[in-house]
Amino acid sequence: MIEHCPELGPEAFLRFEPKDGFILGRTPVRRYLRDLCASFADQAACRARLEENPLLYQVTSIEDQHGAGQLHYGLGVLMPGKIGREYFMTRGHLHAWRPAAEVYIGLRGRGLMVLEDERTGECRVTPLEANTVVYVPGWTAHRTVNIGEEPLVYWGVFSSEAGHDYGAMGERNFRIVVVEKNGAPVVMERSAFLRELEAQTQ
Ligand SMILES: [Fe+2]
Repeated sequence: MIEHCPELGPEAFLRFEPKDGFILGRTPVRRYLRDLCASFADQAACRARLEENPLLYQVTSIEDQHGAGQLHYGLGVLMPGKIGREYFMTRGHLHAWRPAAEVYIGLRGRGLMVLEDERTGECRVTPLEANTVVYVPGWTAHRTVNIGEEPLVYWGVFSSEAGHDYGAMGERNFRIVVVEKNGAPVVMERSAFLRELEAQTQ
């Protein structure tokens, strides 16, 4: 284009489509209900949907650069829907390198981020939607939840050294759930929601 000043290559310049959350030339990883059934509180509701096995979310990860100071990032698309009364959500994770923070940038849709500090057990819930930025501190497990009626699309940007630890939250799950009550999303302690479900089956 300009003599002696070549354009950036595909490791440093990409085009993305914010409506459906695709990055041109890159392949997303998809997660279906079958991959995530254990994360939902209402196991009977999950089993009832297993044959249909809906797509819950996809993530296109860009991890081209490695080493100190480098960044990784990913474009997430979380579909709208519920399993029983619990809204579609991601599996959620901690970073393998616990001090690593992350920035989430909302592009489309209406969602929530559930944050849980591993050291204190403190929970926080914050909106994630178009034109919002959420800073996830280190040592904090994070999960996105779609409480809207269209796909929730967002970027996550983090240190190339962060890594992902799905095991810790997979075993104990997050302490709170986001469920529909009288047509609106509410945040509940998981234990209280499980008691409600149990009471309904008796
Ligand atoms: Fe993360």
